Amino acid sequence: MSDTPLKFLFGYTKRYWKKLFLAILFMLASSGLNVMPPYLFKSIVDDVLISKNIFMLNVVCVSVIVIFGLKAVTTYFQRYFMNVAGQSVVMDIRIDLYDHMQRMSLQKIYASRIGELMSRITGDAAILQSIVTSTFIDLMFNIVTFLGMFAFILYINWRLTCLIILVLPVVAFMLSFAAKKLRRAGHNVQEHLADITATAQEAFSAIRVVRSFATEDEELERFTKANRENYSALLQAVSVQGILAGVIEVFLIFALAIVFWFGGRSVINGTLTPGELISFTGYIAFMVQPIRSIMNEMGTLQTGMASAERIADMLKIPVEDSESHAGAVAKKISGNITFEHVFFSYEKDQEVLKDINLEIEAGQNVAFVGSTGAGKSTIADLIPRFYEPVSGRILIDGHDLREFNLKELRRQIGIVPQECVLMKGSIAFNIAYGLKDIDMNKIIEAAEIADIREFIESLPNGYETEIGERGVTLSGGQRQRIAIARAVIRDPRILILDEATSSLDTAVERQVQKAMNQAMKGRTSLIIAHRLSTIRDADKILVLEDGRFVQAGTHDELIKAGGLYADLWRMQYGDAS
Ligand SMILES: Nc1ncnc2c1ncn2[C@@H]1O[C@H](COP(=O)(O)OP(=O)(O)O)[C@@H](O)[C@H]1O
Ligand SMILES: [Mg+2]
Repeated sequence: MSDTPLKFLFGYTKRYWKKLFLAILFMLASSGLNVMPPYLFKSIVDDVLISKNIFMLNVVCVSVIVIFGLKAVTTYFQRYFMNVAGQSVVMDIRIDLYDHMQRMSLQKIYASRIGELMSRITGDAAILQSIVTSTFIDLMFNIVTFLGMFAFILYINWRLTCLIILVLPVVAFMLSFAAKKLRRAGHNVQEHLADITATAQEAFSAIRVVRSFATEDEELERFTKANRENYSALLQAVSVQGILAGVIEVFLIFALAIVFWFGGRSVINGTLTPGELISFTGYIAFMVQPIRSIMNEMGTLQTGMASAERIADMLKIPVEDSESHAGAVAKKISGNITFEHVFFSYEKDQEVLKDINLEIEAGQNVAFVGSTGAGKSTIADLIPRFYEPVSGRILIDGHDLREFNLKELRRQIGIVPQECVLMKGSIAFNIAYGLKDIDMNKIIEAAEIADIREFIESLPNGYETEIGERGVTLSGGQRQRIAIARAVIRDPRILILDEATSSLDTAVERQVQKAMNQAMKGRTSLIIAHRLSTIRDADKILVLEDGRFVQAGTHDELIKAGGLYADLWRMQYGDAS
C-alpha cells in the first residue's frame, strides 16, 4: 500500500477530527465489550457449574445482558459518528473533484473519455464512501477485538499462547501476500467497471448514429465484452479472496486442535482449570471471525485505496490558471487581435497550425475559409485560450493572452459554436446563462439582436418556455439564434461564429444571417463559414489550407486574384458574378 492515497484521505479527514475521535472512542468501547463473552465461559464452568453457585449464575447471566446492551449502544454511536465524518469527507472530495475536472484544460478533458471522468465522480467516490464510512472502522474494530482476545489468552495461559504465536508469522505473511493480490484484483475490477460506464455513455450520446447505422448489435457486443471482462475480474477477485480466507481458517482450526491436545493434558494434570481451557479455545474460535473480517476488509480497503489513488491522480492534473493573473490585465478590451508566428498541435508531431500571423483591428469583420480540418476552429479556440499555442504569441490590444485574467477575458468573448448545446432550463435561463442577476430587458434586447424575439414571444410561456437537454423542441435555426442571443447578451467585444449556418437550409440561413449581421455590429467578429455567400461582405477573408494561411483579401480581391478562394466560390455558386 503506497502512502499517497492515505495521505490524500488524511488531508480531508483533518477537518472532522472531533467526530472521528468520538467514533474511535466508541469503537474501542464496543470492541472491548466484544472481547468479554468467551471469558464468561470460564466463569460459567469454573465458578457456576463446578462450584454449583447459583448466585454467580445470576451474576454471569445479568453480565451477558448488560455487556450486549452496552455493545449495541456503543456500536450505534460508533457508526453514527463515523458516518457523519465519512460522508462529509466523501462529499468534500466529490465536490472538489468535480470543481477540479471542470477547470482542467480542454486538452486534458478531450484526451479522456467522458465516461471515465464520470466514473471518478460516481463509481470511485461511491467506493470511497463505503470505505470511509464502514470498512475503515470495521477493520479497526476487528483489529482491536483481535488484539483484545489475544491479550486474554495470554492472560489465561501464556504457554498455550506461545504455541499459537508460532502459527502467527505464517498468518501475517499470508495476510500481506493476500493484501497485494487483492489490491491488484480490486484495481482490475474498477478499471473494467469504468470501461462499462464509458462504453454505455458513448453509445447513448451517439444513439442517433447507432440507430442510423443499425449498429445496435455491435454496440451490444462491445458492451457485453466490457461486462464479461468486468465479470472475470470480479470472479478472480472473489476467488483470490475466498481461497485466502479458507486457507487461513484451516490454519486456525489446526491451531485449535493443538490447543486441545496440549490444553487437555494440562487440565488432566491440574495445571489448567476446565473453565480456562474452554474459554481459551472459545477465544481461538472467536478469533476466526475478526481475522476473516480483517481479510475481507483489507480487500475492500485495497479497492478503496485504488479509488483514492485514481481520484488523487485526477486532482494532480493541472487546471487552467483562471485566477492566477487576477491582478493582471482585467480591463475592458477593445478587440484588436494579433497572432505572431503561432504554431499549434493537439498531439506531438502533428502540427495543426503552422506559422499563423494575423492582424485584426477592433471592430473588423474577418472571415476564415478553408476545407474541413484546415484548422479554422482551432484558431478560434486559441483566442479565448482554450488551448495554448506551442510557440508564438497571441495578443489582444497588444497584451499577450497570458497576461489576462482568464475569466475576464472570456467574459468579453462571445462564441456561437457549430453544435450549439442548450442547457436544460427555460429560454430565459439559456439566454442569460451564467449571468448573476437576470435582467429581463437585457434578455429581450439580446433576443431582438438575434432576431428570435418574435418567435419566443409567440410561445405560450414566452421566455419561460422549458427546453429539453439538447433543445429538442426547437429547430436548428431557432437554437442557433438562441445561441447567438446567449453570446451577445454580455455585449462581448469579440464575437466568434463557428459555422453558425452550415447545418441550416438556405431559407433559415438567411434568417440566421440577419441575426448574425446584427450581432456583429460594433464588435470584432470572426466568422468561420462553409457557405461563402455568408461572408461576402467581410472586411477581410483569410483562406486556410492545411494549417497555413494561403490567401487573404476582400471577396472581390480574392475572386480577381484566382486561386483556392475563387475555386471554392466557383464550386459553390458556378461562375463568379
Ligand atoms: N481536440 C482535438 N484533438 C486532436 N485533434 C484535433 C482536435 N480538434 C481538432 N483536431 C484536428 O485538428 C485539425 C484541425 O481541426 P479544426 O480546427 O477543427 O478544423 P476545421 O474547423 O477547419 O474543420 C484536424 O486535423 C482535426 O482532426
Ligand atoms: Mg470547425
